[in-house]
Amino acid sequence: MATSANDSFFIATPIFYVNDVPHIGHAYTEVAADALSRWMRQSGMDTWFLTGTDEHGQKIMRTALANGVSPKEWADRLVEQSWKPLLQTLDLANDDFIRTTEARHEVAVTKFLTLLHDKGFIYQGEYEGFYCVGCEEYKPAADLVDGVGEFEGQKVCQIHGRPVEVLKEENYFFKMSDFQQDLLDLYQSQPDFIQPPSVRNEIIAFVNRGLDDLSISRSNIDWGIEVPFDKSHVTYVWFEALLNYITATGWGSDEETFARRWPAIQLVGKDIARFHAVIWPAMLMAAGLAPPKRVFAHGWLLVGGEKMSKSKLTGIAPTDITSVFGSDAFRYYFLRAITFGSDGSFSWEDLSARYEAELANGLGNLASRVIAMITRYRDGVIPDGAPGSAPAEAALQAVMAEAVPAADAAMNAFAPHEALGQLWRIVDATNGYITEQEPWVLAKDPQEAQRLDAVLYNAADALRCLAVTLSPFMPQATHKLWVALGMPGSLQDQNIPDAGFAGGLTPGVSVGELLPLFPRIDPEA
Ligand code: MSP
Repeated sequence: MATSANDSFFIATPIFYVNDVPHIGHAYTEVAADALSRWMRQSGMDTWFLTGTDEHGQKIMRTALANGVSPKEWADRLVEQSWKPLLQTLDLANDDFIRTTEARHEVAVTKFLTLLHDKGFIYQGEYEGFYCVGCEEYKPAADLVDGVGEFEGQKVCQIHGRPVEVLKEENYFFKMSDFQQDLLDLYQSQPDFIQPPSVRNEIIAFVNRGLDDLSISRSNIDWGIEVPFDKSHVTYVWFEALLNYITATGWGSDEETFARRWPAIQLVGKDIARFHAVIWPAMLMAAGLAPPKRVFAHGWLLVGGEKMSKSKLTGIAPTDITSVFGSDAFRYYFLRAITFGSDGSFSWEDLSARYEAELANGLGNLASRVIAMITRYRDGVIPDGAPGSAPAEAALQAVMAEAVPAADAAMNAFAPHEALGQLWRIVDATNGYITEQEPWVLAKDPQEAQRLDAVLYNAADALRCLAVTLSPFMPQATHKLWVALGMPGSLQDQNIPDAGFAGGLTPGVSVGELLPLFPRIDPEA
């Protein structure tokens, strides 16, 4: 595989706090990054998908203490029992998983701090401000709101609804204010650097108002990475967490790998877009490194109209869904039902309705009917009807030829919902083709044997196309389909852009048994 920077597709999720177990909001970022990276890998890009955990800071330290264990013990427990198992729950094909307590991260963070200090971008000063432990961030007074319920009469964080703490400290500061103009120039020269436009506009307005320097050390806690030039301080958790994207890809230790991977595409929730589109590129500029390729902010999953979160008790565990519907349906649902970049409401009713209509009745039924007819009418051997140019076949082939590049364009524009919409045109067109061609009628007339061959071949060929192009979204069901079609080689190695060309299916091959792709869900279970 070529390794020029142009071929590189390096996508990273935020690294997740280990104070608590994963919920479906976290899982949403993960499945989006996974589907995008699988798609790009199968389109010939030199792909790397990084995810991991953010383990330092006050929030985790306090949770650990409240549970009577050390922060490291707590982090180890949560990573092993909850965060790494999430990778299996969601069927993620990540290339790396970084923990901020690993030596590779700590060593490179130390190096980065030393570099910025030597370059004169770090100085000592005093800070007093309102700190939200939930956000791990100082909050400007303007961002606080009046508390309600038990916090009535107090100023609280808008996101967490909990009181902020007043902190006064001797800190080290990063001269972020030096980079205001460079950042504005970056947003100007690369209009798609921050997406979607709503978030871009908000960030530009924020930077236009002027940037403060950033406090990057803490002396009141010891759960963090020591500041190399002052051992009485640890690094501010966000400052080191952002560095994971380069510490995991060889910065400071393996420059060849780093040059091959960097810059990354940063997929983030909109609540943390500012960290990634302002602080992070400023840090990189100070070190003389390229900013990320793009910062894409997705919306929030809402439950009952509110941002779903554990602290507000609206949290839903990913396994609550996958244990009933399976990981494919989880992945499909969140990527199809929500416009990527906007907020979206989750409801069990919507999930079950789509499972039933689109997966079980739409794709699942189509696949089982076609395989069953090949078994019944052609002794399980794919007939040589390839691919044919009669009007009905030509129409079906045209849908495939159009939908695959359109889905590719949508994936390149970070619109998985649209890509799935395009690919579903193939599902619908194939279902329509079978209804119109009535293979069960053709099967009764020996004169129509050739027509029947053509219909069965073309329908199965469309399934081949769907298996390849839907595999980044639903790796398990598409694998079953691929095997049932008797296709050789691994599905994950199939090239997506080629999948839209008709005639890729091999005639003369025996189909296998197709296990139900989307089994009926027992409502009582
Ligand atoms: N540790 C920081 C990120 C550091 S990156 C250098 C953090 N962690 S987090 O665990 O709180 O959140 C991780 C991601 O989950 C964020 O992108 C956040 O937007 C996303 N989500 C958390 N709740 C969410 C929803 N309800 N809906 C969608 N995504 C949400 O922030």
